[in-house]
Amino acid sequence: MSYYTNFYEQTCYTYMGPGSVKQVGISAKEKGITKMMIVTDPFLAKQENVVGKVKKSLEDNGIEYVVFDKINVDPLDTIVYEGEEFAKAEKVNGLVGVGGGSSMDAAKSIDILMTNPRPLSQYYYSWDYKPGPPVFEVPTTTGTGSENTYYSVISDTTLNVKKVPLKKPDLAICDPELTYGLPAGLTAATGMDAFAHAAETMTGMIQCALTDALCGFGITLLMNNLPTAVEQPDNKEARDNLMIASNLIGRGFGVMGCHLGHAIGQCIGARYHTTHGISCAWPLPATMEYSAISEPEKVKMVADYMGLKYPENISNERIGKLVSEAISDFMHVVHIKPMSEYGIDRDGLIGIADIVMEDNCWPVIPRELTKPELEELLGKVYDSYQG
Ligand SMILES: [Fe+2]
Repeated sequence: MSYYTNFYEQTCYTYMGPGSVKQVGISAKEKGITKMMIVTDPFLAKQENVVGKVKKSLEDNGIEYVVFDKINVDPLDTIVYEGEEFAKAEKVNGLVGVGGGSSMDAAKSIDILMTNPRPLSQYYYSWDYKPGPPVFEVPTTTGTGSENTYYSVISDTTLNVKKVPLKKPDLAICDPELTYGLPAGLTAATGMDAFAHAAETMTGMIQCALTDALCGFGITLLMNNLPTAVEQPDNKEARDNLMIASNLIGRGFGVMGCHLGHAIGQCIGARYHTTHGISCAWPLPATMEYSAISEPEKVKMVADYMGLKYPENISNERIGKLVSEAISDFMHVVHIKPMSEYGIDRDGLIGIADIVMEDNCWPVIPRELTKPELEELLGKVYDSYQG
């Protein structure tokens, strides 16, 4: 029962659909916000069809705003502090994160510090703080689902690791028009991140019918729309469906969390500075094979939502292989390149085993692995996805 309670706490009120970005200003006015800080990255800040639309919505509703555009990938705690200082100096009473997971997550952490003392580290995995001003989230990619989760992933510059303050957004505004024309590479990477969130959540230690339904249907939407969006970046129907997919999956994985694939993927990203979505796509096929040994029914569910056919009496090993190969094929369809093209060699990949076992997703892997078993699996990750 506690999981269902947690499920409802996880989500926030959400506007979904083309044109919904207009709601930023309307909702800000309704909540009594008079000056908003837009938290974004330097590239999006210049985009008329992205941040420009958020500004217009605020202007149309007579709301002042300032732009904090210093967010980069894997936002540093030091940038969060800079954002806090800027927001306080400008006396804003509302925040809106506009971007991918980095900008949305940074907005959440800045919001905590608006009404609570530093350091940010005291709010890692904690709800023990005073509520801040309203924080809205406007996703511009379709991968993280961060607009509906209470995770704010921040790079701790003292410990040199990623940490997670908790903060639930007050409002999510998911306007797929902001993603029309997104480049193919970014579309594929963020889409595969969403796929990994869904498949790992469905095969994790805990099963929850609600999150299975959200993540499972999200996988079906990804299968049916990601290749189209990669080939035709302006295809509205595909973009609209991907926005729904990443939001549904975010609501699901935000509750139950990822396991082995993200433990490996996050460490590949940390070691080789490859983008998060691609780093987490590479280990996903092997993660399904690994999961099928102890969780065959859950892997069958992933297969079902992918639209795969298999005999009723299929072995655990075989269903793992089937799903693994189907995901690899799908990765080829959306043009995910192999690790060798990013300068990663097989021995180097096997060498990350120690840090994988320290990753924050490692404790929730569904079946224990020894270090030699993990090293063997990492070798399989490398060998199983070639160009
Ligand atoms: Fe992810």
